[in-house]
Amino acid sequence: MQETLIQIKNEAMSMIVSAEADEIEQIYISFLGKKGKLTNAMKEIPSLPIEERSEIGRLANEIKSTLEEQIKDKRMELKKNRSNPAQEEKTNRKYIPNDNSPVDITMPGNLPPLGSLHLVTQAIREITSIFEKIGFTRVRYPEVEYDWYAFGSLNFPQNHPARDDWETFFVDLPADSKKGNILLTPHTSSGQVREMERVLKNIGARQDGLYAEPGLSIKMLNIAKCYRRQSDVSHTQMFHQFEGLVVGENITIAHLKGVLEYFVKSYFGEKRTFRIRPYHFQFTEPSFEIDISCGVCMGRGCRLCKGGWLEMGGSGMVHPNVLKAGNIDPDKYTGFAFGWGVERVLMMKEGLKIDDLRLLYSNDLEFLEQF
Ligand code: PHE
Repeated sequence: MQETLIQIKNEAMSMIVSAEADEIEQIYISFLGKKGKLTNAMKEIPSLPIEERSEIGRLANEIKSTLEEQIKDKRMELKKNRSNPAQEEKTNRKYIPNDNSPVDITMPGNLPPLGSLHLVTQAIREITSIFEKIGFTRVRYPEVEYDWYAFGSLNFPQNHPARDDWETFFVDLPADSKKGNILLTPHTSSGQVREMERVLKNIGARQDGLYAEPGLSIKMLNIAKCYRRQSDVSHTQMFHQFEGLVVGENITIAHLKGVLEYFVKSYFGEKRTFRIRPYHFQFTEPSFEIDISCGVCMGRGCRLCKGGWLEMGGSGMVHPNVLKAGNIDPDKYTGFAFGWGVERVLMMKEGLKIDDLRLLYSNDLEFLEQF
C-alpha cells in the first residue's frame, strides 16, 4: 500500500511540473477528484490491518496535501504566464534567426501586465450608479476641512465632548477666525452644509435670512475619503463614506426608509433585509442606526454577525439647527441624511470575506489581482 501511494505521488508530481494551462484541472480530477487515483487508494485504508492503518493514513494525507499545494502553485504560475502572453511566447519560441543582425526583429514585444480597477473604486462606481438612477447628484467636498463644516454647523456646541467620538486628526495650521480649526474630515457629513450653500448659490438665493421660498430640492450623494485615528482589522485610518442628503418640502422618515430599501435591494440583492434602531447623532433628530441581515447566515446568527445583523451606519432626519446653519428655513423644509462606509458595505456583500480591512490599502498585488 505504501508503495502504491508513493507511486501515485511520483506520477502526479511529474505531470504537475510539466502541465500546460489546459491540463492542470484534468490532473487534479484524475488524482484528487471523487474517483481519482489517490482518492480511490485512500478508500482502501479502512480495510487495512489495524497496525498499518494510522501510519498509512498519515502518509496518504501528507501526499494529498502536497499534491493540493503543488497544483495550487502551478495554477498561479500558469495564470501569471497567461496574463503576459508575450512572455510565454518568448519562452516557447521555436524559430531563432541566425543572421548577424544586432536587432532581432522576430523578438515579440512585452505586453505590460493588464491592470484593473481597485475594489473600492468599483464599489464607489456601483454605489454612484445606484443613487444616480433615483436622481441623486454625486459631489465631493474637501478632505482638509474647517471645524465649522465637520462639527460646528452640525449642531456640535463649542467644546462639546461629542467631537471626541470622531477621533479626529487636527492639522497644525492657524485656525480661521470664523470657521475654526483645520482638520482631516472624519465623516462625509461635513458636506451637508457645503451642499446647502452650493445649491442656494446656484439658484441665486438671497444671502440675508433663511430661505423659505417654495421649490428648493437637494439630493446629494457625497462620496469622499475620511480620516480617524484608528487602525485594526476592521478599521483603517483612511476610509471612504458615502453620504446622502435630501432636503425638500414635506420630506419624512418614510422617504428615508424608501431610499434605504431601494439601496439595500439594489446593492446587496433581493434576499437581504434591514432594520432601523434608535440612536443619537448631534446633527439628526430622530437618529437611527441601520443594520443589514447577514449574508452568510441570512439572519439566523453566525460567527460573523451579531445575532443575524451587521451594522451599516447612521442616518436620521436633519436637525433644524443644521438647516439653519445652511441658511434654510426649518419651518418650511425638512430633510434626511445618511452616512455609510464604502469599505464596510463592500465587506458585507455576499460571498466576499476579507479578514483584514487593511489589506485593501497594502498595495499587495496578489490580493488586488483577485478582483
Ligand atoms: N456621520 C455619521 C458617522 O460618521 C453618520 C451619519 C450621517 C449619521 C448622516 C446621521 C446622518 O458616523
